[in-house]
Amino acid sequence: KSVEFQNSAGENQLSKEDQELVLSLPRVKSWDYAFLYQYQGFWCASNCFHGILSFQRHFQAKDTDILLVTFPKSGTTWLKALTYTIANRSRYTLENSPLLTTPSHDLVPFTDVHIYADNKSSTLEDLPTPRILAIHLPYASLPHSIINSNCRIVYLCRNPLDQFISYWHFISKVPQAADPVSIDEAFEMFCQGVQMFGPIWDHELGYWKASLEKSNKILFLKYEDLKEDIIYYIKKLADFIGCPFNNEEEAQGVIEEISKFCSFDNMKNLEVNQIGKLSYFGIENKAYFRKGKVGDWTNHLTPSMSKRLDNLMEEKFGDSGLMT
Ligand code: A3P
Repeated sequence: KSVEFQNSAGENQLSKEDQELVLSLPRVKSWDYAFLYQYQGFWCASNCFHGILSFQRHFQAKDTDILLVTFPKSGTTWLKALTYTIANRSRYTLENSPLLTTPSHDLVPFTDVHIYADNKSSTLEDLPTPRILAIHLPYASLPHSIINSNCRIVYLCRNPLDQFISYWHFISKVPQAADPVSIDEAFEMFCQGVQMFGPIWDHELGYWKASLEKSNKILFLKYEDLKEDIIYYIKKLADFIGCPFNNEEEAQGVIEEISKFCSFDNMKNLEVNQIGKLSYFGIENKAYFRKGKVGDWTNHLTPSMSKRLDNLMEEKFGDSGLMT
Protein backbone atom coordinates (compact mmCIF):
# COMPACT_ATOMS: atom_id res chain seq x y z
CA LYS A 1 0.00 0.00 0.00
CA SER A 2 2.89 2.42 0.53
CA VAL A 3 3.00 2.99 -3.27
CA GLU A 4 -0.37 4.65 -2.83
CA PHE A 5 1.17 7.41 -0.76
CA GLN A 6 3.77 8.43 -3.28
CA ASN A 7 3.60 11.92 -4.76
CA SER A 8 4.18 12.68 -8.45
CA ALA A 9 7.95 12.46 -7.83
CA GLY A 10 7.56 8.92 -6.48
CA GLU A 11 8.28 9.95 -2.87
CA ASN A 12 6.27 8.89 0.14
CA GLN A 13 6.21 11.93 2.41
CA LEU A 14 3.69 10.76 4.99
CA SER A 15 4.95 10.11 8.50
CA LYS A 16 4.22 6.72 10.02
CA GLU A 17 1.46 8.27 12.17
CA ASP A 18 -0.19 9.93 9.19
CA GLN A 19 -0.02 6.71 7.19
CA GLU A 20 -1.75 4.95 10.03
CA LEU A 21 -4.34 7.70 10.18
CA VAL A 22 -5.09 7.38 6.47
CA LEU A 23 -5.16 3.59 6.56
CA SER A 24 -7.75 3.72 9.34
CA LEU A 25 -10.16 5.68 7.11
CA PRO A 26 -12.96 4.17 4.97
CA ARG A 27 -11.59 3.39 1.48
CA VAL A 28 -13.28 2.88 -1.88
CA LYS A 29 -12.06 1.87 -5.30
CA SER A 30 -12.91 4.86 -7.42
CA TRP A 31 -13.30 5.87 -11.03
CA ASP A 32 -10.91 8.84 -10.83
CA TYR A 33 -8.06 7.60 -8.63
CA ALA A 34 -7.46 3.95 -7.82
CA PHE A 35 -8.51 4.46 -4.20
CA LEU A 36 -10.09 7.27 -2.30
CA TYR A 37 -10.18 7.64 1.48
CA GLN A 38 -13.01 9.35 3.33
CA TYR A 39 -11.43 12.07 5.43
CA GLN A 40 -13.50 14.69 7.30
CA GLY A 41 -16.49 13.74 5.13
CA PHE A 42 -14.84 14.14 1.73
CA TRP A 43 -13.11 11.63 -0.56
CA CYS A 44 -9.39 12.12 -0.97
CA ALA A 45 -6.73 10.36 -3.03
CA SER A 46 -3.90 8.90 -0.98
CA ASN A 47 -1.16 10.94 -2.68
CA CYS A 48 -2.87 14.22 -1.71
CA PHE A 49 -2.82 13.65 2.03
CA HIS A 50 0.65 15.01 2.62
CA GLY A 51 -0.23 18.39 1.09
CA ILE A 52 -3.66 18.60 2.66
CA LEU A 53 -2.58 17.63 6.16
CA SER A 54 0.36 20.06 6.17
CA PHE A 55 -1.82 22.82 4.76
CA GLN A 56 -4.40 22.26 7.48
CA ARG A 57 -1.76 22.16 10.20
CA HIS A 58 0.51 25.00 9.15
CA PHE A 59 -1.15 27.50 6.81
CA GLN A 60 -1.44 30.99 8.26
CA ALA A 61 -3.89 33.21 6.39
CA LYS A 62 -3.28 36.94 6.15
CA ASP A 63 -6.14 39.42 6.30
CA THR A 64 -5.28 40.56 2.78
CA ASP A 65 -5.33 37.05 1.24
CA ILE A 66 -7.75 36.19 -1.54
CA LEU A 67 -8.60 32.50 -1.65
CA LEU A 68 -10.07 31.05 -4.82
CA VAL A 69 -11.99 27.90 -3.98
CA THR A 70 -13.56 25.44 -6.39
CA PHE A 71 -14.64 21.88 -6.74
CA PRO A 72 -12.42 20.43 -9.52
CA LYS A 73 -13.70 21.16 -13.05
CA SER A 74 -15.88 24.07 -12.02
CA GLY A 75 -13.94 26.73 -13.89
CA THR A 76 -10.87 27.14 -11.67
CA THR A 77 -8.59 27.91 -14.63
CA TRP A 78 -10.89 30.75 -15.68
CA LEU A 79 -11.33 32.14 -12.15
CA LYS A 80 -7.56 32.16 -11.65
CA ALA A 81 -6.98 34.04 -14.91
CA LEU A 82 -9.72 36.58 -14.14
CA THR A 83 -8.65 37.27 -10.57
CA TYR A 84 -4.96 37.42 -11.42
CA THR A 85 -5.62 39.85 -14.28
CA ILE A 86 -7.94 42.08 -12.27
CA ALA A 87 -5.65 42.24 -9.24
CA ASN A 88 -2.47 42.87 -11.28
CA ARG A 89 -3.78 45.28 -13.90
CA SER A 90 -1.77 48.21 -12.63
CA ARG A 91 1.44 46.13 -12.83
CA TYR A 92 0.91 44.48 -16.22
CA THR A 93 -0.92 45.53 -19.35
CA LEU A 94 -2.70 42.72 -21.17
CA GLU A 95 0.07 42.78 -23.79
CA ASN A 96 2.61 42.07 -21.05
CA SER A 97 0.48 39.72 -18.99
CA PRO A 98 2.39 36.82 -17.37
CA LEU A 99 -0.60 34.70 -18.46
CA LEU A 100 0.81 34.88 -22.00
CA THR A 101 3.82 32.86 -20.93
CA THR A 102 2.74 31.00 -17.77
CA PRO A 103 -0.39 28.88 -17.27
CA SER A 104 -2.80 30.29 -14.68
CA HIS A 105 -2.30 27.14 -12.57
CA ASP A 106 1.38 28.00 -12.22
CA LEU A 107 0.73 31.69 -11.53
CA VAL A 108 -1.89 30.82 -8.91
CA PRO A 109 -0.89 27.35 -7.71
CA PHE A 110 -3.07 25.20 -5.48
CA THR A 111 -1.90 25.82 -1.94
CA ASP A 112 -3.20 22.54 -0.55
CA VAL A 113 -2.47 19.95 -3.25
CA HIS A 114 0.55 21.69 -4.78
CA ILE A 115 2.52 24.11 -2.57
CA TYR A 116 2.27 22.16 0.68
CA ALA A 117 2.52 18.85 -1.19
CA ASP A 118 5.89 19.95 -2.56
CA ASN A 119 7.04 21.39 0.80
CA LYS A 120 7.23 24.86 -0.73
CA SER A 121 5.22 26.76 1.86
CA SER A 122 8.10 29.23 2.37
CA THR A 123 7.40 30.56 -1.16
CA LEU A 124 4.07 31.86 0.12
CA GLU A 125 5.90 34.50 2.12
CA ASP A 126 7.43 35.98 -1.05
CA LEU A 127 4.12 36.51 -2.84
CA PRO A 128 3.04 40.11 -3.41
CA THR A 129 0.04 41.49 -1.48
CA PRO A 130 -2.73 40.56 -1.93
CA ARG A 131 -1.73 36.91 -2.16
CA ILE A 132 -4.02 35.08 -4.56
CA LEU A 133 -4.20 31.46 -3.46
CA ALA A 134 -6.24 28.55 -4.74
CA ILE A 135 -7.59 25.55 -2.87
CA HIS A 136 -10.07 22.72 -3.36
CA LEU A 137 -10.72 21.84 0.30
CA PRO A 138 -14.33 21.82 1.56
CA TYR A 139 -15.39 24.65 3.88
CA ALA A 140 -15.60 22.39 6.94
CA SER A 141 -11.96 21.36 6.44
CA LEU A 142 -10.43 24.82 6.15
CA PRO A 143 -7.67 25.72 8.61
CA HIS A 144 -8.84 27.91 11.49
CA SER A 145 -6.75 30.86 10.38
CA ILE A 146 -8.81 31.15 7.19
CA ILE A 147 -12.05 31.23 9.14
CA ASN A 148 -10.74 33.54 11.85
CA SER A 149 -8.83 36.04 9.71
CA ASN A 150 -10.34 38.69 7.46
CA CYS A 151 -9.10 37.00 4.29
CA ARG A 152 -11.67 36.77 1.53
CA ILE A 153 -12.92 33.68 -0.26
CA VAL A 154 -14.23 33.54 -3.83
CA TYR A 155 -16.08 30.29 -4.47
CA LEU A 156 -16.99 29.24 -8.01
CA CYS A 157 -19.55 26.47 -8.34
CA ARG A 158 -20.78 24.58 -11.39
CA ASN A 159 -23.83 22.52 -12.28
CA PRO A 160 -22.93 18.94 -11.19
CA LEU A 161 -24.11 17.50 -14.53
CA ASP A 162 -21.52 19.53 -16.45
CA GLN A 163 -18.92 19.00 -13.72
CA PHE A 164 -19.30 15.23 -14.09
CA ILE A 165 -18.86 15.32 -17.88
CA SER A 166 -15.93 17.71 -17.66
CA TYR A 167 -14.20 15.55 -15.03
CA TRP A 168 -14.97 12.38 -16.97
CA HIS A 169 -13.02 13.72 -19.94
CA PHE A 170 -10.28 15.28 -17.83
CA ILE A 171 -9.45 12.28 -15.71
CA SER A 172 -8.39 10.24 -18.74
CA LYS A 173 -5.60 12.80 -19.19
CA VAL A 174 -4.26 12.58 -15.64
CA PRO A 175 -1.16 10.37 -15.46
CA GLN A 176 -1.89 9.14 -11.89
CA ALA A 177 -5.56 8.35 -12.58
CA ALA A 178 -7.21 4.96 -12.16
CA ASP A 179 -7.67 2.64 -15.14
CA PRO A 180 -10.55 3.96 -17.24
CA VAL A 181 -14.07 2.71 -16.49
CA SER A 182 -17.27 3.06 -18.54
CA ILE A 183 -19.31 6.23 -18.21
CA ASP A 184 -22.08 4.15 -16.59
CA GLU A 185 -19.75 2.90 -13.88
CA ALA A 186 -18.32 6.37 -13.34
CA PHE A 187 -21.81 7.85 -13.15
CA GLU A 188 -22.90 5.30 -10.57
CA MET A 189 -20.00 6.24 -8.29
CA PHE A 190 -20.49 9.95 -8.98
CA CYS A 191 -24.13 9.64 -7.82
CA GLN A 192 -22.83 8.14 -4.59
CA GLY A 193 -20.65 11.20 -4.17
CA VAL A 194 -17.46 9.30 -4.93
CA GLN A 195 -14.83 11.45 -6.62
CA MET A 196 -11.85 13.46 -5.39
CA PHE A 197 -13.16 16.11 -2.91
CA GLY A 198 -16.69 14.72 -3.32
CA PRO A 199 -19.53 14.61 -2.71
CA ILE A 200 -19.90 17.68 -4.92
CA TRP A 201 -23.22 18.66 -3.31
CA ASP A 202 -21.65 18.79 0.16
CA HIS A 203 -18.77 20.90 -1.18
CA GLU A 204 -21.05 23.40 -2.92
CA LEU A 205 -23.55 23.51 -0.06
CA GLY A 206 -20.83 24.04 2.52
CA TYR A 207 -19.63 27.24 0.84
CA TRP A 208 -23.15 28.29 -0.14
CA LYS A 209 -24.42 28.21 3.44
CA ALA A 210 -21.27 29.92 4.74
CA SER A 211 -21.65 32.63 2.08
CA LEU A 212 -25.20 33.36 3.26
CA GLU A 213 -23.93 33.85 6.80
CA LYS A 214 -20.76 35.74 5.85
CA SER A 215 -21.45 37.65 2.67
CA ASN A 216 -18.56 40.04 3.32
CA LYS A 217 -16.12 37.17 3.53
CA ILE A 218 -17.36 34.78 0.84
CA LEU A 219 -18.37 35.67 -2.69
CA PHE A 220 -20.32 32.76 -4.15
CA LEU A 221 -20.26 32.64 -7.95
CA LYS A 222 -21.70 30.23 -10.51
CA TYR A 223 -19.93 29.19 -13.72
CA GLU A 224 -23.22 29.44 -15.60
CA ASP A 225 -23.78 33.04 -14.43
CA LEU A 226 -20.28 34.05 -15.50
CA LYS A 227 -20.90 32.57 -18.94
CA GLU A 228 -24.10 34.59 -19.19
CA ASP A 229 -22.88 37.99 -18.03
CA ILE A 230 -19.13 38.09 -17.56
CA ILE A 231 -18.93 41.91 -17.52
CA TYR A 232 -21.22 42.14 -14.49
CA TYR A 233 -19.27 39.45 -12.64
CA ILE A 234 -15.84 40.88 -13.45
CA LYS A 235 -17.00 44.12 -11.81
CA LYS A 236 -18.41 42.22 -8.86
CA LEU A 237 -15.23 40.21 -8.46
CA ALA A 238 -13.07 43.35 -8.68
CA ASP A 239 -15.18 45.11 -6.03
CA PHE A 240 -15.07 42.09 -3.75
CA ILE A 241 -11.29 41.67 -3.88
CA GLY A 242 -10.80 45.37 -3.24
CA CYS A 243 -9.64 46.33 -6.75
CA PRO A 244 -12.71 48.15 -8.16
CA PHE A 245 -12.64 49.67 -11.64
CA ASN A 246 -12.73 53.47 -11.72
CA ASN A 247 -14.89 55.48 -14.11
CA GLU A 248 -12.01 56.07 -16.47
CA GLU A 249 -11.28 52.36 -16.75
CA GLU A 250 -14.94 51.60 -17.34
CA ALA A 251 -15.12 54.27 -20.06
CA GLN A 252 -11.98 52.90 -21.70
CA GLY A 253 -13.52 49.43 -21.93
CA VAL A 254 -10.97 47.80 -19.61
CA ILE A 255 -13.57 45.35 -18.30
CA GLU A 256 -14.49 44.18 -21.81
CA GLU A 257 -10.80 43.77 -22.63
CA ILE A 258 -10.23 41.61 -19.55
CA SER A 259 -13.28 39.51 -20.38
CA LYS A 260 -11.97 38.88 -23.90
CA PHE A 261 -8.45 38.22 -22.71
CA CYS A 262 -9.62 35.61 -20.18
CA SER A 263 -12.25 34.10 -22.47
CA PHE A 264 -12.17 30.40 -23.24
CA ASP A 265 -11.23 30.87 -26.90
CA ASN A 266 -8.41 33.30 -26.19
CA MET A 267 -6.93 31.32 -23.30
CA LYS A 268 -7.26 27.97 -25.06
CA ASN A 269 -5.47 29.23 -28.16
CA LEU A 270 -2.50 30.80 -26.38
CA GLU A 271 0.63 28.86 -27.21
CA VAL A 272 1.45 28.54 -23.52
CA ASN A 273 -1.79 26.61 -22.99
CA GLN A 274 -1.37 24.46 -26.08
CA ILE A 275 2.03 23.06 -25.23
CA GLY A 276 3.82 21.82 -22.15
CA LYS A 277 2.78 20.35 -18.87
CA LEU A 278 1.97 21.80 -15.49
CA SER A 279 4.86 21.93 -13.06
CA TYR A 280 2.96 19.44 -10.86
CA PHE A 281 0.93 16.28 -11.52
CA GLY A 282 2.45 16.15 -15.05
CA ILE A 283 -0.90 17.13 -16.59
CA GLU A 284 -0.77 18.76 -20.03
CA ASN A 285 -1.81 22.42 -19.97
CA LYS A 286 -4.26 21.86 -22.79
CA ALA A 287 -6.23 19.35 -20.67
CA TYR A 288 -7.69 22.34 -18.81
CA PHE A 289 -9.43 23.62 -21.94
CA ARG A 290 -12.05 21.36 -23.50
CA LYS A 291 -15.32 23.00 -24.58
CA GLY A 292 -15.98 25.67 -21.98
CA LYS A 293 -19.75 25.47 -22.51
CA VAL A 294 -22.82 25.22 -20.33
CA GLY A 295 -24.97 22.11 -20.88
CA ASP A 296 -22.52 19.77 -22.60
CA TRP A 297 -23.97 17.01 -20.38
CA THR A 298 -26.88 16.74 -22.83
CA ASN A 299 -24.44 15.22 -25.33
CA HIS A 300 -23.34 12.49 -22.94
CA LEU A 301 -26.00 11.59 -20.39
CA THR A 302 -29.10 9.55 -21.24
CA PRO A 303 -32.49 10.96 -20.17
CA SER A 304 -32.65 8.43 -17.34
CA MET A 305 -29.20 9.45 -16.09
CA SER A 306 -30.07 13.13 -16.10
CA LYS A 307 -33.42 12.41 -14.41
CA ARG A 308 -31.63 10.51 -11.69
CA LEU A 309 -29.18 13.32 -11.15
CA ASP A 310 -31.94 15.94 -11.17
CA ASN A 311 -33.75 14.01 -8.44
CA LEU A 312 -30.55 13.64 -6.49
CA MET A 313 -29.81 17.37 -6.68
CA GLU A 314 -33.36 18.14 -5.63
CA GLU A 315 -32.85 15.90 -2.61
CA LYS A 316 -29.39 17.21 -1.76
CA PHE A 317 -29.84 20.93 -2.44
CA GLY A 318 -33.47 20.91 -1.27
CA ASP A 319 -34.67 24.34 -0.22
CA SER A 320 -31.14 25.70 0.33
CA GLY A 321 -31.75 28.25 -2.44
CA LEU A 322 -28.65 27.12 -4.30
CA MET A 323 -30.53 25.77 -7.29
CA THR A 324 -32.60 28.88 -7.96
P1 A3P B 1 -15.34 21.61 -19.95
O1 A3P B 1 -14.62 20.31 -19.73
O2 A3P B 1 -16.81 21.50 -19.72
O3 A3P B 1 -15.01 22.24 -21.25
P2 A3P B 1 -11.18 23.64 -14.04
O4 A3P B 1 -10.52 24.87 -14.53
O5 A3P B 1 -11.83 23.82 -12.68
O6 A3P B 1 -10.30 22.46 -14.13
O7 A3P B 1 -12.43 23.41 -14.99
C1 A3P B 1 -12.22 23.07 -16.34
C2 A3P B 1 -13.46 23.43 -17.11
O8 A3P B 1 -13.49 24.86 -17.31
C3 A3P B 1 -13.45 22.80 -18.50
O9 A3P B 1 -14.83 22.63 -18.83
C4 A3P B 1 -12.78 23.89 -19.30
O10 A3P B 1 -12.99 23.79 -20.70
C5 A3P B 1 -13.44 25.13 -18.71
N1 A3P B 1 -12.66 26.36 -18.93
C6 A3P B 1 -11.31 26.52 -18.90
N2 A3P B 1 -10.99 27.79 -19.15
C7 A3P B 1 -12.14 28.46 -19.35
C8 A3P B 1 -12.45 29.83 -19.66
N3 A3P B 1 -11.51 30.74 -19.83
N4 A3P B 1 -13.75 30.17 -19.80
C9 A3P B 1 -14.72 29.25 -19.62
N5 A3P B 1 -14.50 27.94 -19.33
C10 A3P B 1 -13.23 27.55 -19.19
